[in-house]
Amino acid sequence: MNVPRMEGVRLNAPAYVKHRRLLEWVARMAALTEAQDVYWCDGSQAEYDRLCQHLVDAGTFKRLNPALRPNSYLALSDPSDVARVENRTFICSQRKDDAGPTNNWVDPHEMRSLLETGERALFKGCMRGRTMYVVPFSMGPIGSPIAHIGVELSDSAYVAVNMRIMTRMGRAVFDVLGSDGEFVPCVHSVGAPLAPGQRDVAWPSNATKYIVHYPETREIWSYGSGYGGNALLGKKCFALRIASTMGRDQGWLAEHMLILGVTSPTGKKYHVAAAFPSACGKTNFAMLVPPKAFAGWKVTTIGDDIAWIKPGKDGRLVAINPESGYFGVAPGTNEKTNPNCMASLKRDVIFTNVALTDDGDVWWEGMTDTVPAHLTDWQGHDWTPAIAKETGAKAAHPNSRFTVAATNNPALDPEWDNPAGVAIDAFIFGGRRSTTVPLVTEARSWHEGVYMAATMGSETTAAMAGGNGAVRRDPFAMLPFTGYHMGDYFNHWLATGARLQAAGVKQPRIFCVNWFRKGADGKFVWPGYGDNMRVLKWMLDRVEGRAAGVEHLFGISPRYEDLNWDGLPFSLEQFAAVTSIDHAAWKQELQLHDELFQQLAARLPSQLRTTKEQIERKLAR
Ligand code: OXD
Ligand code: MN
Repeated sequence: MNVPRMEGVRLNAPAYVKHRRLLEWVARMAALTEAQDVYWCDGSQAEYDRLCQHLVDAGTFKRLNPALRPNSYLALSDPSDVARVENRTFICSQRKDDAGPTNNWVDPHEMRSLLETGERALFKGCMRGRTMYVVPFSMGPIGSPIAHIGVELSDSAYVAVNMRIMTRMGRAVFDVLGSDGEFVPCVHSVGAPLAPGQRDVAWPSNATKYIVHYPETREIWSYGSGYGGNALLGKKCFALRIASTMGRDQGWLAEHMLILGVTSPTGKKYHVAAAFPSACGKTNFAMLVPPKAFAGWKVTTIGDDIAWIKPGKDGRLVAINPESGYFGVAPGTNEKTNPNCMASLKRDVIFTNVALTDDGDVWWEGMTDTVPAHLTDWQGHDWTPAIAKETGAKAAHPNSRFTVAATNNPALDPEWDNPAGVAIDAFIFGGRRSTTVPLVTEARSWHEGVYMAATMGSETTAAMAGGNGAVRRDPFAMLPFTGYHMGDYFNHWLATGARLQAAGVKQPRIFCVNWFRKGADGKFVWPGYGDNMRVLKWMLDRVEGRAAGVEHLFGISPRYEDLNWDGLPFSLEQFAAVTSIDHAAWKQELQLHDELFQQLAARLPSQLRTTKEQIERKLAR
């Protein structure tokens, strides 16, 4: 095969890469970015170790004490590059209307000029002095009919090693691609070219950031950030924004959902997919350890952040986790809130923006009851409890993260890697709401469930730059991740339910939860974590038709006596505090639903309007 040539740079493609279009694209991108050289990742352990050592030598990584945290590293980012940047994230569809009012849109020609073709295009020469890593990855088990392939070109070795944990990355992907397989091209640069002899910084990035998606051509271009969802392009950019448009076109769903397995004491296995906004406890729920009173119940993890859901052979919805690792929020994780996660983090972890202990281990707020007397904080400064008291400085950034392979998780579900996926019995949607939304509600129909998910609100968190606890509508926990018009997305969900019904296939039940109601003292009333099993069991009993509940304004909720309270002192008053439905608050809540519906009016399904009118009529009575 004629391998494309590039002026000045050797393409260095391994002989096993047979895909001409891919080779040409890599050559074109190396020429555009003027990368110093090109390195093709094979995904091996030796390569991972070598790149990690390179990051240690460059000052990006600190190797943690191998006796305390074997084979683990700490990276501290630039203080300005700590979270997803939603206001710099763009959906550049041909037509503005297709991106819809909840996405930032720029005309694709204009964006291409800004990034690639214009005289001062940002990607021109942006990798000067740097290596361009070619990172081939499969989202989902390699070769699965539900999986899809991407190739990320990045000038960040940090991205390459994180991608090896978060995706099935390496040579095997090229075997699946063959000479003409489909892949999503992803180009990433930290936007910090190096002049000859210029010393690099530990965390290169650029104050100008663009996270750009072209849904029609299924391309991703990311500039200026090295962090998380901005840079690990398989995750939010591909597995949610681009995949959601693929799903719309091809009849499947790409969702911001964990997937868990629950096995009952009689051995019956259920699968549940649950959507919560970022930093609202998806990882904790996916790794839940049931309380003692639930002896014989077992929860196992299939995924903690993203689900791809397609109709299976029998027509039922089956799901895979397209990722192979967890990029989870560290603060608040401890032996009580998530023992399985703590066990997962014992070794082989990349930590980002947590604090360093004096003996070379990591720490974050909420990790232990006893706070260390001295730490180096996430910005590399001395930190003591006294300093924290005086200045309010956090030892770990509130959005500090761990990257760890799913296979480290002791609660990993045996089906997690099954290319056929698992059949979903129930969907759960949950926001972070101090007031108004009850602990759990079951939708009486698919469209009522779609209504609840579509109108969900949540208090924003540190996972997004600028997150400050203000309530915003976050439909399906997908506000920052749907790659097309949100009204069309609601239609797609309604159509999915209608297709199941037409095929005579049982629709998964839909539930809405809120673990976050607060009392007058400002503290959470519901204990959460393992005790969420009490609510989960009620849902599964509803699926089986053997649990009672009461109908109210917008669905069915359990009464106090419908939940199992063994081992948990939780009074009727506390129960009322997490389940009460305040009609005045709901009148206001419906106004917020209305604002969302007005924003999406051009493409809002009429069924959602009708459902809202029904609730309004009941409220008025
Ligand atoms: C994430 C997020 O990183 O949702 O998963 O921000
Ligand atoms: Mn997420």
